[in-house]
Parts: sequence; C-alpha cells; structure tokens
Amino acid sequence: MLKDKVVCVTGGAGFIGSHIADRALRENARKVIVVDNVIASRQKNLRQLLADKRVVIVPGDVRDVDFITPIIQKSDIVFHEAASKLVASLKNPRTDLGTNIVGTFNVLMAAKGSDTHVIHASTGSVLGSCDTAMKEDFHPRPSTLYGISKLTAERYCVFFAKEFGVKVSILRYFHVFGPRQDYYGEAGVINIFLSRILRN
Ligand SMILES: NC(=O)c1ccc[n+]([C@@H]2O[C@H](COP(=O)([O-])OP(=O)(O)OC[C@H]3O[C@@H](n4cnc5c(N)ncnc54)[C@H](O)[C@@H]3O)[C@@H](O)[C@H]2O)c1
Repeated sequence: MLKDKVVCVTGGAGFIGSHIADRALRENARKVIVVDNVIASRQKNLRQLLADKRVVIVPGDVRDVDFITPIIQKSDIVFHEAASKLVASLKNPRTDLGTNIVGTFNVLMAAKGSDTHVIHASTGSVLGSCDTAMKEDFHPRPSTLYGISKLTAERYCVFFAKEFGVKVSILRYFHVFGPRQDYYGEAGVINIFLSRILRN
C-alpha cells in the first residue's frame, strides 16, 4: 500500500507516528515527510530515520495552514497523528481545540480536491466512559475535552468524505502500547501498569 508513495506523518516524532514512519520506509515508500512541532524533545524517536535519504523532517505546526497545506497536497497518504493528548488537553484547552480540531480541519481542507488519502488517528476517548462493554455502534458521549475535540475531528472527516469526496479513513485507537511510549503521566495505561509491576 505504501510502496512508491509519498507518505506524510503528522506528529511523526511521537510514539505512534515514528513507528508509522519506520513502517513506511520498510514498505518502500518513495518519500516520508515527518511533520512535528516539538522535534527537539522527541529527537530520539527519529534517530533511526535520520540516515535514510527518503526521510524529510519538517518542524512545524498543523495549526499553521500556510505551512501544512503544500505538504499535504504533495503527499499520496497522510497519517494524521499530531494531537494534543488527554492530560495536555485539560491543562490547555485552547491548544487542544487548535491542534485537534483546527489542525485536522487544515489537513482535510488541504486534501480537498486532491488525491491525498488522509488516515486520521482517533481514539476510544470519543466514546466516553461506560461500565459495560462498548460495541462498535456505541453512541459516542465523550466526557473529556480530548474526547470532544477528537470526536469533532472525526465528524469533520466524515463530512469532508461525504460532501467533498476526500479520501479519509478513521482509526479509533484504544490502548496502544510499545517501545518509545512515555510511561509517566496518565496516558498509556498498559505501559504505566507494566512499569509499576517491574518496580514492584
Ligand atoms: N497512544 C495511545 O494509546 C493512543 C490512543 C488513542 C489515540 N491515540 C491518537 O494517536 C495519535 C498519536 O498518539 P501518540 O500516542 O503517538 O502521541 P504522541 O504525543 O507520542 O505524538 C503526538 C505528536 O504530535 C506532535 N504534535 C502535537 N501538536 C502538534 C501540532 N500542533 N503540530 C504538529 N505536531 C504536533 C507532538 O509533538 C508529538 O510528537 C494521536 O492523534 C492520539 O490522539 C493514541
């Protein structure tokens, strides 16, 4: 699927984004464009990518429409991972709104009228809390700012797909875990539990 494609990963210096960039290279993408606004603090996630001439690391912000539009338009596939996450969203609701909603809107607007396929990273947090099992058709009722902004972003994705024919896929990740994940704070519950078990 990624062979010979120009692949853009927003939030590409993050936990999941950096693995997607690795995978795109393994699948012989022609070019991998990594967009992230805090490149310095996540540089370690990109170390393995730096030697590969197909990788272009572009520090910048998805909220900046003039910055992000040309990058999206020259990409065949965009993995849109950039986000303000659960705890950060509560600490800074305006950044949450800007990155998760406006950032996604900018990506979709740029993809409108192009052949770019946007794969949007959403979250189980759009569903909210529930004491019983949640089925695929569970009606979303987010209970956090993060859940609200990510659900809004999903709805923009669906609208752009239906009304403007933008190629969009939405993936609702739940508890993703693995190497390069932070194991502090409140996110990444599996990593947090495992690291506590290892420390008794
Ligand atoms: N990790 C999980 O378990 C999990 C679960 C559900 C959903 N998700 C979603 O998956 C995606 C990736 O999550 P992650 O765990 O890799 O997070 P992460 O925090 O490791 O990576 C996100 C990256 O986005 C960058 N970023 C933030 N705001 C930006 C902006 N305005 N412009 C450009 N870059 C920006 C950050 O610097 C960071 O490197 C997110 O959209 C998140 O909502 C993750």
